[in-house]
Amino acid sequence: MAALNHRALKPVVFLLCLLPAAWLFWAAANDQLGANPAEALIRALGDWTLRALVLVLAITPLRVLGGWPALARLRRMLGLFVFFYASLHWLAYAWFDMGFDWSEVLVDIPKRPFILVGTLAWLLLLALAATSFNRAIRALGAARWQALHRGVYAVAVLAILHFFWMRAGKNDFAEVGVYAVLLGSLLAWRVWQRFKRQRPPGRR
Ligand code: HEM
Repeated sequence: MAALNHRALKPVVFLLCLLPAAWLFWAAANDQLGANPAEALIRALGDWTLRALVLVLAITPLRVLGGWPALARLRRMLGLFVFFYASLHWLAYAWFDMGFDWSEVLVDIPKRPFILVGTLAWLLLLALAATSFNRAIRALGAARWQALHRGVYAVAVLAILHFFWMRAGKNDFAEVGVYAVLLGSLLAWRVWQRFKRQRPPGRR
């Protein structure tokens, strides 16, 4: 697909990824988030974190199955958008739920399992974002860098657990199921690829 090689692809995708945040800021500033704007904002930012995570994990399967190598250059930017939305989500929680009372936050994290799991996912994303630049790749060495960045699979598992636990109180699992199937398929595809690579030639 020629469009994927166009130099405008990256800036266009960058702007598209910023749209949800821009819309949410506009809606918050103009009182368009419904009866409970704080809750709506926290939840919408959580949803966009999860969507960005699905997108970044879909890059490699799409690249391989579709034969679109140009997609690889979007991966780092999309990964940083996962961190961006997770950080806004976390910030909204610390502000609107906790009033930036850090001692309250420290009490809340171990008290509510879904917050603990979300925090672990965010800390992992922080480590990945901090080492996403070329200098970090050189400093760590390719093998160690790759091993660390496989942490994104743990983020996917923790994110589903976080969402599942949050919805467990409401017994409402429909959306959790959709994301679990999406992320589960993207992870299963990688396991399958690794299995195929390890099988002796002639048995593929
Ligand atoms: C990778 C990291 C994370 C992902 C993917 C994520 C995703 C989500 C999702 C999808 C929801 C539900 C939204 C909905 O109901 O439509 C949610 C809710 C929530 N998350 Fe996260 N989250 C993450 C990290 C965190 C962190 C670090 C915190 C706070 C320390 C946090 C606090 C919350 C809170 C307070 C809610 C709303 C609970 C409620 O309204 O009852 N999340 N998150």
